Amino acid sequence: MCGIVGYIGSKQACPILIKGLRRLEYRGYDSAGVSMINDRGELNVFKAKGKVDDLVAFLDDKDVSGTIGIAHTRWATHGVPCRENAHPHYSSSGTLSLIHNGIIENYASLKEKLIEHGYTFVSETDTEVLVQLIEYYKITYQLDLLSAVQRALAQVIGAYAIAVLDRSNPDEIIAARKSSPLAIGLGDGEFFLASDATPLVEYTHKVIYVDDDEIAVINRHSGVNIVTLQGQSVSPEVSEVTLDLGAIEKGGYEHFMLKEIFEQPECILNSMRGRINPDGTNVHLSSVIDYGDKFINARRYVIVACGTSWHAGLIGKSLIENFCRIPVEVAYASEFRYNDPVIGEGDVVIAISQSGETADTLAAIELARSRGAFVYGIVNSVGSSIARCTHTGSYIHVGPEIGVASTKAFTGQVTVLTMLALCIAKERNTITEEQLHEALQELLRIPDKMREVLKQNDAIASLSRTFTYAHNFIYLGRGYNYPVALEGALKLKEISYIHAEGYPAAEMKHGPIALIDAEMPVVVVATNKALYEKVLSNIQEIKARQGRVIAVVVKGDDTISKLVDYVIELPETADFLYPLLASVPLQLLAYHIAVCKGKNVDQPRNLAKSVTVE
Ligand code: F6R
Repeated sequence: MCGIVGYIGSKQACPILIKGLRRLEYRGYDSAGVSMINDRGELNVFKAKGKVDDLVAFLDDKDVSGTIGIAHTRWATHGVPCRENAHPHYSSSGTLSLIHNGIIENYASLKEKLIEHGYTFVSETDTEVLVQLIEYYKITYQLDLLSAVQRALAQVIGAYAIAVLDRSNPDEIIAARKSSPLAIGLGDGEFFLASDATPLVEYTHKVIYVDDDEIAVINRHSGVNIVTLQGQSVSPEVSEVTLDLGAIEKGGYEHFMLKEIFEQPECILNSMRGRINPDGTNVHLSSVIDYGDKFINARRYVIVACGTSWHAGLIGKSLIENFCRIPVEVAYASEFRYNDPVIGEGDVVIAISQSGETADTLAAIELARSRGAFVYGIVNSVGSSIARCTHTGSYIHVGPEIGVASTKAFTGQVTVLTMLALCIAKERNTITEEQLHEALQELLRIPDKMREVLKQNDAIASLSRTFTYAHNFIYLGRGYNYPVALEGALKLKEISYIHAEGYPAAEMKHGPIALIDAEMPVVVVATNKALYEKVLSNIQEIKARQGRVIAVVVKGDDTISKLVDYVIELPETADFLYPLLASVPLQLLAYHIAVCKGKNVDQPRNLAKSVTVE
């Protein structure tokens, strides 16, 4: 989703802004722009449709000088992707420029009023309305920029992170936030602004996360001053960001997605570090220790999440119900927030989010909290909005995920959910000590087993070439593997644009089997010990209709191997841990098919990494 970058200091702003935009490319966007105030006091705005490279080409013969500037990558919401709709937007008089993430919901009525006052618009965006509104207050009531921003934002309904430049004050950037992330990096005599910490870490590790309804005045000489929308002064909390530069670069891999797939063994070790004893005899999550009563005596758990995180939630449901014998519901956060859910005291809501900024998940948390539920977050991005608005939580510690298609965050989430289930089961005595040790010791073996799976990368790459013709794919799995099938299908459609559906294997004969013919590839995750015979029958039904089956099986499974067209083997593990192994070849399959089809795997069309609008 849209990305914001800003700089003020003694260096030339433009190269820093462009580099920052590149660091935010992973969020997904369709146009980009920069605005600087140069030494002659001119406020320039340059924008281009397409990628940051297109913007750089456009800047080639322009005056991009200036030590203060703001920049933006836009993911279209109001109006098509084009230069006019790209940010920054000028105010009518050309004295202000503004960038904006989020959505101004009442932009139409504000625009109407501004038109009545004689304002004209060159774009279709809600953002241009905001910059004109600020200018309207500034001029009409002779206000300084801060007061004009306060007056304008008081009129706005919606979500925003904004940054504004004023030609008449080349020493100041004003930024504000409501429901859309904004971080300020504190350098040595220089300041940086960004939607998340990734563009900041090569310059500074000291960061202020701006909170909702706060406005930051970033002044070249006096530093950062934070006030509320109403003008009360706030003392900002400076956080230390531990992210290192290597973690946000490709490290020799062709794509971030491939790097992140290969990082998974190390990532899930990081998720388990300090939480499981090295000998696998105990597991502790600090949240469960601190709020034991809430977790142990919950009448029900409700998992809220979106997309891939929702798939992890489905696996979490099976884990918690099987190990802890507590009922669990899994809701799409976007549905939960509008369904008037029956939720309250005694319920534990588990919010799962990689980015920690997903608007629907945030809204679901707020609703659950307002009704008295206890909210626990499973989040990757440290210091993100979701991490800060839950009662407690566990970070998954897999490092920044740059590829838009989620991979290592998924396995990290499943790892934390597994530890959570085992931890609660231990406290509730719904698991014996022997079972707990066995489960934890097997969980500790997963990173090595994942490395075994990754060795099949070349074989999966060559198998993928066979399937670039396909327009459809079906993914099947049962029990713990059903969400794996859903996630495999989502990965494929996201990055290769091949239509793919995931089903519980036994549902085939209730409809989808009509689709099977010699052209239809069907991926079957067939590792379940408990339901082995049933899945075998499902495969026979597909083969009887000439479907082409790729089966993910346990090593040494001669029965299914003989029956199907292609086999991917996994090392043996416990049924509840197969999702961690089985999702890896499905990620690789999607990745290689997309690469063979020449798609942009790291930034697939129309997708955003962090979905900060509804
Ligand atoms: C899929 C994907 C999305 C996200 C979803 C939720 O690869 O990345 O489906 O899982 O947008 O995002 P988070 O987890 O950041 O809340």
